[in-house]
Parts: sequence; structure tokens; C-alpha cells
Amino acid sequence: MKDPLMYALMNFLHLLAAIVWLGGVSFVLIALRPAAAALLSPPQRLPLMAQVLSRFFVLVWLSIGLLLLTGVPMLLSVGMKGAPVGWHLMLGIGLLMFALFGHLYFGPFRRLKQAVSASNWPEGGRRAGQIVSLALLNLVLGALAIGAVIFLA
Ligand code: HEM
Repeated sequence: MKDPLMYALMNFLHLLAAIVWLGGVSFVLIALRPAAAALLSPPQRLPLMAQVLSRFFVLVWLSIGLLLLTGVPMLLSVGMKGAPVGWHLMLGIGLLMFALFGHLYFGPFRRLKQAVSASNWPEGGRRAGQIVSLALLNLVLGALAIGAVIFLA
């Protein structure tokens, strides 16, 4: 990409998408879920979590689209051969994060919504637990991806 302003815009949108995704996951895991678990019983908590996640996951899909649409052109602007190892790592870790989120969305999250519709609280609790584990893994991977591009560029 020849235009430095265009590159800066891509970098800006890329960073914004990462902040929205990882910030949202941190909030749900560290603040919302423990508070909901302390105050609400499963028939109240699980529909709340399903609704919150339905809304937040729209943002995550948008973030994924934006990360790809901005990350790939930045990477290709220097060429795969010319890219530092940290950039290659970001691509690899990013693709893994997208796959994990796809699995989380079409697996445990879909099952959580089905369990909530059927008022099956034990199943819903199990699915919510799986979502938490996958989201935590993605949070760690996100931190590693950013670390790679900062320390290995
Ligand atoms: C798989 C697709 C991805 C590609 C191709 C990609 C590519 C890149 C590239 C080339 C840069 C360096 C820009 C520069 O320093 O000039 C960058 C920076 C960055 N990426 Fe990604 N990335 C991807 C996914 C992600 C993901 C999943 C996250 C985190 C959720 C992320 C977060 C960041 C952040 C925070 C920076 C800025 C680091 C800094 O300020 O130096 N990227 N990415």
C-alpha cells in the first residue's frame, strides 16, 4: 500500500476491532459473568447471558471482518517474504482465533440458546461453561498475537 494515510487508517481500524473484541470478552468474563453468578439463579442468569452474548457476538463478527480486511492488506503491503516473524505469527494466531470463535458460535452458543428455549438449565450451564473456556483461550491467544507483533516485529 503506497499511501501512508491509507496504511494508518487500516492500522487504526485494526486496533479498534481488536480492542472491541478483546475488551468485550474481558468484560464478560471478569465482570459480568461472576456478578450474574453471584446474584442470579440459572433461570434468570442463563437467558441474560444468551441475550448479552447474542448482541456482543454481532460486534465480534464485525471485528473479525475488520481485522481480516485491514490485517491482510497491511501484511501484503510488505509481502509475505518481507514481513517480520511477528506478523506471520499474528496471521496464524488470528486465523486460529477466528476458527475458535466460529466453533464457539455454532457449537456451544447455539446449544446454549436451545437449552434456554427449552428451560434446560443444567444443559445451559454446561454450554455456558464451554463458552467461557473457549473465550478465555481466545483472550490468551489475542494477547499472544499482540505480543508477537510488538516483540517480534
Ligand atoms: C489473521 C488476521 C490478521 C492479520 C493478517 C494481522 C496483521 C497485522 C499486521 C500486519 C500488523 C502490523 C501493523 C504495523 O505494525 O504496521 C498488525 C498489528 C496489530 N494487530 Fe493484527 N492481524 C490479524 C489479526 C489480529 C487479531 C486477531 C488481533 C487481536 C484480536 C490483532 C491485533 C493487532 C494489534 C493490536 C496490532 C497493533 C500492534 C501495534 O500497535 O503495533 N490482529 N496486525
